[in-house]
Amino acid sequence: MDPTDSRRSAAGTVAGPPRGILRLSHVDVSVTDLDLSTAYYTQVMGMEVTARTGDAVYLRCWDEEDHHSLRLRYAPRVGMDLMSFKVHHADDLADLEQRVSRYGFPVERVSAGESVGQGESIRFSTPSGHVMELVADVEKVGARPRSRIEAGGLEPFPRDHIGPPRMDHTLVTAEEVGEATQFYRDVLGFRITEQLLDGNGHQVGTWMERSHTPHDLAVVKGPNGGLHHFAFWLDDWDEVRDAADVLAHHGIQVDVGPTRHGITRGSTIYFFDPLGTRNEVFTGGYRPDPDFPTLTWTGDNAGRAIFYYEGELNDRFMKVHT
Ligand SMILES: [Fe+2]
Repeated sequence: MDPTDSRRSAAGTVAGPPRGILRLSHVDVSVTDLDLSTAYYTQVMGMEVTARTGDAVYLRCWDEEDHHSLRLRYAPRVGMDLMSFKVHHADDLADLEQRVSRYGFPVERVSAGESVGQGESIRFSTPSGHVMELVADVEKVGARPRSRIEAGGLEPFPRDHIGPPRMDHTLVTAEEVGEATQFYRDVLGFRITEQLLDGNGHQVGTWMERSHTPHDLAVVKGPNGGLHHFAFWLDDWDEVRDAADVLAHHGIQVDVGPTRHGITRGSTIYFFDPLGTRNEVFTGGYRPDPDFPTLTWTGDNAGRAIFYYEGELNDRFMKVHT
C-alpha cells in the first residue's frame, strides 16, 4: 500500500463516514474436487492462490489488492457457501446489522481471525435463501502491479489463461424475485438498474448495483439459494475474444457467447468450470449514478434483454444452476 495514499486506512477499510456497501468482496463456493477446481481457477482463469487451509483454497485476480475474491471449499456437493460484500466502514456493519435484524432475520457476528484474510464480519440469510456476509476490513496482499504485463496477466498471443483483472458481480436465483429484491434494495441499499417483468408485471429478474456499474448483484427466478454464475471483469471486447480462444484451447464447455446482453449492455461469455459451476467473463456496460432510472424489460423482449444478438434464451442457460 502506498503510505501517502490518504484515502485508505492501514486496516484495509475506507476512511470517512459509513456509506453502506462498497462492492462484491468474494464468492465462496463448495467443490467436490479441490485439486481439480484449484487447477482450473489458476491455470485456465489465471488466478493466484493467496492461502490454503485443510479444506479450502483462497484466490485473487491479478489486479485485486484484497486477500481473495473466490474461496473454494471441499464438500460432497457443488454449490454456493456465501456471497460476501465489502462495506465502506466498520460502522456500516452495526448499521446494517440493525437493519437486517429489524427486517426479522437473525444476524451472526463473526469475529476477526475466524475467517481467513479478513476482519470482523456479519452474516445472515436473505429472502433469496442465500447466506450473505458483510465485511469492512479485508487484508491487503502484496503491492498492486503497475501494469498487466508486470503482473503476468498478459502474454503474447496465444496465451494459455484468461487472466481477468478482477471479479465483477454475481447472479443468484430466488423463488420470489420481487421479495428478494425488496430486501436487497430497502434493507441493504442496492439500487435497481434494470428489471425484467413477466406478463403479470412481476419481477423475474433484477440487476442491482452499489459500485456505479450495471450490476454487483442480480437475481433471477429459480430455486432459493441457487448460484447462476459469478463473473470476472475483462477490460474490453478484444479480451473477451481472447478468452474465447483460451476456453477453446483448454476444451472448456462454453454455455453461451461470445455475445452481448441487452440488459447491462455488456459483452459476455458464459462457460462452466470442471465441476459445473457457471462462470462468466464480462465487459462494457455503462455507469449508473444513484439517480439512474430503473430500465424495464418485459416478457415479450426477454430474449433480446438477455442475449441481444440471438434474441432468444437457451434452455441450459435458464435451467442450470448450482
Ligand atoms: Fe453476469
